[in-house]
Amino acid sequence: MIRAADLIERKRDGEEHTPEVISALIQGYGSGEVPDYQMAAWCMAVFFKGLSGRETYALTDAFIRSGETLDLGSELGRRVVDKHSTGGVGDKTSIAVGPIVAACGVPFGKMSGRGLGHTGGTLDKLESIPGFRVELSTDEFVAQVRDVGLAIVGTSANLVPADKDLYGLRDVTATVDIVPLIASSIMSKKIAAGADAIVLDVKVGDGAFMKTIDDARILAEQMVDLGGRADREVVCLLTDMEQPLGYAVGNALEIREAVATISGKGPPDFTELVLEACARLLSLSDLDVDLEEGRRRATEATFDGSALDAYERWIRAQGGDPDLERLATAPVVKEAKAPMGGSVAGLGALAVGIAALELGAGRRTKEDSIDHSVGIVLRAKRGDEVAEGDALAEIHARDDASADRAIAEVLAAYQIGDAGASRRPRGILLDVVG
Ligand code: URA
Repeated sequence: MIRAADLIERKRDGEEHTPEVISALIQGYGSGEVPDYQMAAWCMAVFFKGLSGRETYALTDAFIRSGETLDLGSELGRRVVDKHSTGGVGDKTSIAVGPIVAACGVPFGKMSGRGLGHTGGTLDKLESIPGFRVELSTDEFVAQVRDVGLAIVGTSANLVPADKDLYGLRDVTATVDIVPLIASSIMSKKIAAGADAIVLDVKVGDGAFMKTIDDARILAEQMVDLGGRADREVVCLLTDMEQPLGYAVGNALEIREAVATISGKGPPDFTELVLEACARLLSLSDLDVDLEEGRRRATEATFDGSALDAYERWIRAQGGDPDLERLATAPVVKEAKAPMGGSVAGLGALAVGIAALELGAGRRTKEDSIDHSVGIVLRAKRGDEVAEGDALAEIHARDDASADRAIAEVLAAYQIGDAGASRRPRGILLDVVG
C-alpha cells in the first residue's frame, strides 16, 4: 500500500524514488488505488524536479510489466528491428521504410499510433487505403511478419496499458512535454513489442514536441540510455521539423507520396530521411552489412521495383487495395499563390499542420473522424525561389469555404525573403545520437 500524497510531496521536494516505489505507483494507478488527480500532480512534480536515469528506467520497466510483451525475435528466429518517430507534419516515413526494409530481406513488424492535434498518425494514413485493416490479433501480426515480411498494425490494447492510461491523463493536464515521461512512454512500447534494435526519429522544430536541438538531444540520450539498460541497441536520428516533411500533408496524399518515394520518385528531403532510416535499420539487422552497404541496398530496392512489390504484397495481406487510383480524392482543389516573388525563407510546420487539421485531415479530440481525401501539397519549400503568382501550395478540400480558409493559413505559414537571399537549406538530418 503506497501513500501517493507522500510520493508527490517527496518528488516535489526533489527526492529520488526507489524502483520499488515507482513500480508501486504505476501498479496503484493501474488498479485505481491512485486516482487521476494524484497521478497528474506527480507528473507535474516530475516536470519541475525531473527523474534520474534510474527512476526513468524503473518507470519504463513498470510500464512494460503493466501488460503483455511480445518476443517477435524468438517467434521469427531473426533479429528484429523497429523504428519510431516522435511525430511531425507530413511524416509518412514508416509507410515508405517498411517496404524498403522488407524488400532487402529484413522482417519489419511495427505497432503504430493514431494522430492527435497537428501531427498525423501512421494508422490514419494507412486507413485511407480502401479495405486496409489496422487491427490484427497478435497471432495474425506475427504470422504476417513471418509470411509477408511486413506488417504495421495498431498498438495492441494489452501492450503497455499503463502508458496508454497515463498518456491520456498527461494530454489533458499539460504534462506531455516532459522529457523523462516521453522517453519512458516511447521506449516502454518499443521494448514491449520485442525489437532488438530500434531507430528513433526525434523531430526538432516548431512542428515537433522538441523545439530545440538541445532538448531533442537530451530526449535522444535518455532513450539511448533506456535502450542500453534493457539490452537493446538504439540509434536516434535528430531530424528537421521546422518545415513539413516532403510535400504532402494529409492522409491519402501522403500515401501517394510514400509510394512515389519507394519507387525512387520522392521529394529530396523525405527520400534522404527514408534512405537514412533504412540504412540504419539494415546495418542494425542480422544482414551483417555496414551503413554504406545498407544505404546502397535500400536505394537499389527503390529503383528495381522490389520495394514497390513489397508494398503491394503488404497492403493486400492486410486486406487493402494498393491501386492508388482507389484512394479518395477531394472535390475541391485550389492553389495558394505567392503574393510576391522571392526566396522561401521559412515555412512553419505547425501552421501547415493546423491548416491540414482544420481541413479535416486530423482530429482535435480522440472522437473526431478524419476525412482521408483532404490536405495540402506544398509546391515550394525553404530555399526555393518563387515568382509572384506562382503556386506555393495546392489545397485539397471538401468545399470552397474550407479551401479559402486553408489558403489564408498556408500563405501565413510562408516567409518569403529577397530573391537569392536564403541560406542553403540545411539537410533533414541534424545529428545522430547513439
Ligand atoms: N509519444 C509517445 O508515445 N509518448 C509520449 O509521451 C510522447 C510522444
